[in-house]
Amino acid sequence: MHIQKKEVTLLIADDSQEMRETLKTLLTFNETIKVIGEACNGEEAVEKVADLHPDLVLMDINMPGMDGLKATEAIAIKSPHSGVIIISVQEEVEYMRRAMSAGAREYLVKPFDSDELFRTINNVIEKEMIRRNSISESPVSGSLELGQIISLYSPKGGVGKSVLAVNIASEIKKMIDARILLIDLNLEFGDLALLLNLNATTTIVNVAQTGIQSIDHEYLKSNIMTAANGLDILPAPLKPEYADIVTPGVIQKVLELTKEEWDYVIVDTASSFRGEVLAALDMSSLILMVFGGDFLSLKNTSLALGVMTSLNYPMDQVRMVMNRAFAQASTKILDIEKGLKKRIDYQIPGDIELVLNSINRGQPLVETNPSSDLAKSIKLICEDILQVKDEDSEKKKSGLFSLFAKKTG
Ligand SMILES: Nc1ncnc2c1ncn2[C@@H]1O[C@H](COP(=O)(O)OP(=O)(O)OP(=O)(O)O)[C@@H](O)[C@H]1O
Ligand SMILES: [Mg+2]
Repeated sequence: MHIQKKEVTLLIADDSQEMRETLKTLLTFNETIKVIGEACNGEEAVEKVADLHPDLVLMDINMPGMDGLKATEAIAIKSPHSGVIIISVQEEVEYMRRAMSAGAREYLVKPFDSDELFRTINNVIEKEMIRRNSISESPVSGSLELGQIISLYSPKGGVGKSVLAVNIASEIKKMIDARILLIDLNLEFGDLALLLNLNATTTIVNVAQTGIQSIDHEYLKSNIMTAANGLDILPAPLKPEYADIVTPGVIQKVLELTKEEWDYVIVDTASSFRGEVLAALDMSSLILMVFGGDFLSLKNTSLALGVMTSLNYPMDQVRMVMNRAFAQASTKILDIEKGLKKRIDYQIPGDIELVLNSINRGQPLVETNPSSDLAKSIKLICEDILQVKDEDSEKKKSGLFSLFAKKTG
């Protein structure tokens, strides 16, 4: 939602023409709101929202065909910048909870008067403004010139970092003809090679063993493997006990060199704030913080954000990726955002069958099932990554975060 502009654009989705007319009449009393489209069922609403990019959608919950809940869920994935306000006759808490879990920002219970309507609309806009003020205006303000390092991080393990890392790298490779390198910094239990059906014959341990001073472009390249889909990869150690060989200093050196050879370096990490992970985060232009909607994940994510804030990380470069969003979220999205004090940038749907098939086959799902909702939601992240313009390349080149430099100083 681009709430800074004076006019708020709105789309009405309701199967009753009478209701649409009533809403339009009510809305004419507010000069700042402009109705830019109408839809009479869920499918049409999803399509028109994707076309017209309204700031807000007033969505009736009961519609023939695709209902308001399903349409809200689809809009949250396809058009996350359009906020949905659900309209229902049913006052039951459970029903509203489902609407919020589906991605709605607010709800209105029929019958409502114009005061209530405007209050609700203003509420959504105000909350959005508060969130927006704490982050930058553009969808992704990071500087992703060639040679950018993008890290996936989570304070709690098993939330989907590796699955997303492989799919984001593969999707970018599909979208542009670029050199992409995946680095597996889950040093004890990394499995990126397996996710790409690759038998790792050389790993980051081979690079580390030669000693920091001897690591150069040639040596590094001779230890990089290439997967069937053309992605380059520096696999994790084959055994957990080799992890200690790979020191933060080695990682810093490797990342410095890779930036000069590859257009995008996607780094998968382990769930910790150990030196190796911090070395990568320190040099990243963008951190994708992956988390689930369950209480434990939210608690740890909140703690991790607190640590990053207190260490002066540039928080607009930390993007929030809620994985398996609709399977687990039982709290309102707004409440989660309020709790985390951070906007959720991306919601990735859960699809266990698709994910497991892809893991078992060792083939990224963005390649095998590009039209799935899951693949489409991953594509949105990649589109944002690719459209980013550089504003301060020198700062980014020398690494955004001073944390690691200070620690190892
Ligand atoms: N969108 C999704 N839908 C359904 N299942 C998912 C999804 N994303 C991840 N999973 C499941 O979660 C499991 C863990 O995913 P993944 O290995 O990518 O997590 P991780 O954060 O890298 O874990 P670790 O911290 O242990 O490295 C996968 O094996 C898969 O079963
Ligand atoms: Mg992992």
